[in-house]
Amino acid sequence: DGLATLAKKAKKKYFGTAIDNPNLRDCAYTAKLNDTKEFNQITPGNSLKWDATEASRGTFTFLESDIAVALGVQNKQHIRGHTCVWHNQLPNWVTAGNFDNITLNSIVANHCSTVVGRYKAQIQLGHSERYKLCLYVIPPPTYPDSTELFNEDGTWRNSVFYNTTGESFVATALRAAHAADPKTKLYINDYNIEGTGPKSTAMFNLVKSLKAQRIPIHGVGLQAHLIVGQIPSTIQANIEQFAGLGVDISITELDIRMTLPVTDALLAQQKIDYQTVVSACNAVPRCIGVTIWDYTDKYSWVPSTFSGQGAALPWDENLVKKPAYDGIVTGF
Ligand code: XIL
Repeated sequence: DGLATLAKKAKKKYFGTAIDNPNLRDCAYTAKLNDTKEFNQITPGNSLKWDATEASRGTFTFLESDIAVALGVQNKQHIRGHTCVWHNQLPNWVTAGNFDNITLNSIVANHCSTVVGRYKAQIQLGHSERYKLCLYVIPPPTYPDSTELFNEDGTWRNSVFYNTTGESFVATALRAAHAADPKTKLYINDYNIEGTGPKSTAMFNLVKSLKAQRIPIHGVGLQAHLIVGQIPSTIQANIEQFAGLGVDISITELDIRMTLPVTDALLAQQKIDYQTVVSACNAVPRCIGVTIWDYTDKYSWVPSTFSGQGAALPWDENLVKKPAYDGIVTGF
């Protein structure tokens, strides 16, 4: 049937994958990306980040992101934008922190409205609503040793944005993105908020407060960079809590890594773990879809980031399906 087909049968909007431009030269890899029975959604994994789109102040480049977006548009796949504001993969002129509050807020507004506005225009060129850049992710996460909007204890992270503007950059980014494309769904995305805990509570309270202030916010993204055998038991309850705020939830960057070498036992546990995550989303109507952080172990970010770990995705390095694939099938 294919994972996207199954997701739609289960009344989800999509099953999708992150992609990365350099890998698009690999034809076998790209052929599977174009298989819309498996994937009816893509997320550009790097090409929409700030360092790629506005490397010097006020000068925007969309060469790479246009390629990624065009692939999705051609395939009629949903596209998640990733990302407007994040403390990682920033150009030095932003990180240097040489701006005051008002200036940095205006830089954030300009960046978000330009990037979001770019694809509003592009997608209006003769494509129907269905193909529009439908989702935007506001500050996503980072690598495990640092945090995102929030630290693990739920306090605000010391990014250049927070240190300069306080919490106001979040509303600035959301308002600018909304003004640039009022139909785009705006998300806040983070890691380690899959289960309940102080970080999830901080996210819950932020979204609640944004909604109370009528600041546009439509969803929460759970990244779900998880570890085999360690899926939080509260994942479904946690998704339900976010849904209670009246926002959508997406699993935005799912991968489930293991300590290498791969064994049959680890692959069997990984299958169960993929099923657990997918069925938690499946059980909550406002959880609208699942994205894996690339589909094959050949191009996963995991081995280069977490030393000694890998094999986190449902297809192996030869693009052959692993037991995890069947776990997803069962989860829907
Ligand atoms: C990763 C990409 O996959 C890598 O290619 C890049 O070198 C670093 O960033 N959380 C996120 C993603 O929100 O943007 C990160 O993507 C993975 C962690």
